[in-house]
Amino acid sequence: MKHFLKLGDVSAQEMQDIFELADQLKYEKKHGIAHPRLAGKTLGMIFQKSSTRTRVSFEAGMYQLGGSALHLSSRDLQIGRGEPVQDTARVLSRYLDGIMIRTFAQKEVEDLAEYGSIPVINGLTDYAHPCQAMADFMTIREHKGALAGLKLAFVGDGNNMANSLIVGGVKVGMKVSIACPEGYEPEVADWAKANGDFTIVRDPAEAADGADAVYTDVWASMGQEGEAEKRMQAFRNYQVNEENMRFAKPDAMVLHCLPAHRGEEITEETFEKHAGEIFDQAENRLHVQKAILVKLMA
Ligand code: CP
Ligand code: NVA
Repeated sequence: MKHFLKLGDVSAQEMQDIFELADQLKYEKKHGIAHPRLAGKTLGMIFQKSSTRTRVSFEAGMYQLGGSALHLSSRDLQIGRGEPVQDTARVLSRYLDGIMIRTFAQKEVEDLAEYGSIPVINGLTDYAHPCQAMADFMTIREHKGALAGLKLAFVGDGNNMANSLIVGGVKVGMKVSIACPEGYEPEVADWAKANGDFTIVRDPAEAADGADAVYTDVWASMGQEGEAEKRMQAFRNYQVNEENMRFAKPDAMVLHCLPAHRGEEITEETFEKHAGEIFDQAENRLHVQKAILVKLMA
């Protein structure tokens, strides 16, 4: 594994190896065992969109691994003034040991990897959010003991989160079902249908039926603020709530990548009932990303 750009590039075995290392790093951290596996290494973190979890977990994670992280806002970088990504990649490769980037186009992340000579990690694009999905699978695995054979339901937009969960879910042998309105299907649908147990349905209760984990995300992602009104209409029946959760298994988890919009994609009641799972999920960003950093940069 040279880069971490999308789960389509990562094998089931590589995912498994990351989960195992993440478990170990989590254990070591909880027991105060230092693990300076990236001593002297520097990660650059380019942000073209806002972030709380991604920024803080990568920065803290690099520190805990004995290295350091630089927060590079596109507002300050020359990339924000039009310097080509090809040049940025070649320059940053001379200073840093790895780059994490959050941006709009997946192509920009792929270009950074192609033109640079150091590992690149996708910290969210319009197409994918692979680090979040890895934290999500780690959390399901922790709570349920395994992944293969479990059913994952996604309710809402066929967005970056849906794409990564569907591809990753299929790779680890989960059944995946998405409930979304017409016109909001995930880009990876054809691949998923051909490669695993994947369905698209229109009714959230049907997706949730027999599910071990029910996942949702915002109706309008970063960069789609202009469509918020239209999306509010399109997604008004695509909410995770106690009514739909009746169809899931009695011990089903509810997951959300955060930030959450209570009263839109999830009710306050359902969110708070499952807050333990949702914040475990947020915590696991730290552990799983440290494992990815070690795999790529050690
Ligand atoms: N879930 C997630 O990526 O959160 P941030 O946007 O806060 O980084
Ligand atoms: N789909 C959301 C995820 C945020 C972590 C977005 O792209 O804004």
